[in-house]
Amino acid sequence: MQFDTRHATKVSAHMRRQWDKRARVDPLLYVDTTFRRGNEHDFFAKIQEQTSDFDYLLSMAGVSHAGCALDIGCGVGRTTRVLASRFSRVIGVDVSPVMISAARRLHQEPDFQHMVFAISDGLSLPLQNESVDFAFSNAVFLHMPSFHVIQHNLIEIGRVLKHNASAAIQLRVGPPRSVVRRLLYSLSPRWARYIWYRWIKRHHRLITDSAWLGVGPLRSQQIKQLCKTARLEINAVREEPTYPPHCFATIIVARSSQ
Ligand SMILES: C[S@@+](CC[C@H](N)C(=O)[O-])C[C@H]1O[C@@H](n2cnc3c(N)ncnc32)[C@H](O)[C@@H]1O
Repeated sequence: MQFDTRHATKVSAHMRRQWDKRARVDPLLYVDTTFRRGNEHDFFAKIQEQTSDFDYLLSMAGVSHAGCALDIGCGVGRTTRVLASRFSRVIGVDVSPVMISAARRLHQEPDFQHMVFAISDGLSLPLQNESVDFAFSNAVFLHMPSFHVIQHNLIEIGRVLKHNASAAIQLRVGPPRSVVRRLLYSLSPRWARYIWYRWIKRHHRLITDSAWLGVGPLRSQQIKQLCKTARLEINAVREEPTYPPHCFATIIVARSSQ
């Protein structure tokens, strides 16, 4: 899929600007909005509680713990660090230079020598063709502001995966945003909508833009179509166990053989 260059530059700059703003305010909070109290050590300790789940995902993907792993939208390197204890080389890429510099600052010890962090444009991956044994992305695709961005990233995953390698990508799934909420909104008087809008803008300025809200939940037909266009085969789908059903799912994909 070809992106109009001007549009691509605009959307890429928008994602970068918004995520940089969030990263300047509080990178840890915007990476994990449930993390409200504690220091950087507590932040990284929290993800260690979920590693068995992570290993289950790896086994579903049939990944042997070796070779090169890629973390798309790595943020401050929380999930990259989990990958680093399982792979011999790990590359974390992120559209936000502020997130990347935080990730680099937090991973300077010799234990993390095999981790590399790189800035991406949010659409393509700064990696060579067929160079990755496993690609991973957690809490990133659900923030992508358009289907074009999602599609482009999936195509890029297909390009960088080695033959027979796979990727685990978390998506927001389910029916479109609540019909009841949308109905209530459209029935409410204009002044009430205006006040609501101003309040949201004022108090949640950093989570009301399209690079946070994303395109909304994807239906299974849309996921199938996106993967088909990217020439990725869906090998498994796993509902996120820590959320209510039909909220988030991780798809395990591999390059299609045709
Ligand atoms: C909620 S954080 C999740 C970070 C990390 N995956 C984790 O689970 O700890 C989302 C991250 O994705 C990055 N991001 C958003 N859109 C992106 C895109 N299109 N390409 C690369 N990174 C992106 C943001 O800058 C941010 O660091």
